[in-house]
Amino acid sequence: MPNRIQLQSIRTAGELFANAAIQDVDTAIYPPKRSLLSRVHLYQGDITEIEVDAIVNAANSTLQGGGGVDGAIHMAAGPALAKACRELYPGRHPCPTGDAKITPGFQLPSKHVIHAVGPRWSVSSDTQTIASQLASCYRISLQLAVDNNCKSIAFPLISTGIYGYPIDEATHIALKETRIFLDGNDQLDHVVFVIFTGRNGDQKVYEKFIPYYFPFGPGDVAESVEPLSGAKDSVDE
Ligand code: APR
Repeated sequence: MPNRIQLQSIRTAGELFANAAIQDVDTAIYPPKRSLLSRVHLYQGDITEIEVDAIVNAANSTLQGGGGVDGAIHMAAGPALAKACRELYPGRHPCPTGDAKITPGFQLPSKHVIHAVGPRWSVSSDTQTIASQLASCYRISLQLAVDNNCKSIAFPLISTGIYGYPIDEATHIALKETRIFLDGNDQLDHVVFVIFTGRNGDQKVYEKFIPYYFPFGPGDVAESVEPLSGAKDSVDE
């Protein structure tokens, strides 16, 4: 029987602050909003084992599987996953970069898989374009989850493996898009950021940047969700 990880066993940002795994920062980019700290989780392990309503796959435009997390998800879901992608989204490249599509999860513990196609990073990349494509993957995936009545979603670090996206920048994008979405939408109860087993460096990046987007602070300072002016520039990369 494959291992299944229950959502309630995955530490929330609030719990990470409580046991000092993460510390508040003076230059948070968003104001504190305590209600969010129980909706954001951080987990190191295999995303195919997490029991949430939807896991996000870092796919390619064919939606027919690949290596990395794509390979692991298709392996765990079974051949019905690639078949569903072909039937629901026909065509050689049915999902362009920056877009995402949803399918059932089949043999996975999660009910759905959201296949997001992140940008491939290269030295000649137009950084603004690929940053907006990566942001779009998170935004569309979160919206697809809500549109399909999902209450929980788990993200891998899209584009930071085979596609080579720098981890710091990718983590800023993931956290920013999630904060903006959760501020404007109370239908999604839980967002899990998943770092692959053993990638302790990735875990440290998330632990460093979570307080900028989900600060603990002295309490709910303001309902306003506008970012604090200019704070991002002061984030020590
Ligand atoms: N669970 C959680 N995270 C995982 C797992 C897993 N089982 N396997 C890999 N990861 C992590 C990697 O460590 C990385 O942080 O997922 C992140 C994304 O890495 P990749 O899977 O390599 O995806 P990406 O960089 O987006 O490249 C996508 O790779 O697999 C192909 O078909 C895919 O062409 C596409 C490209």
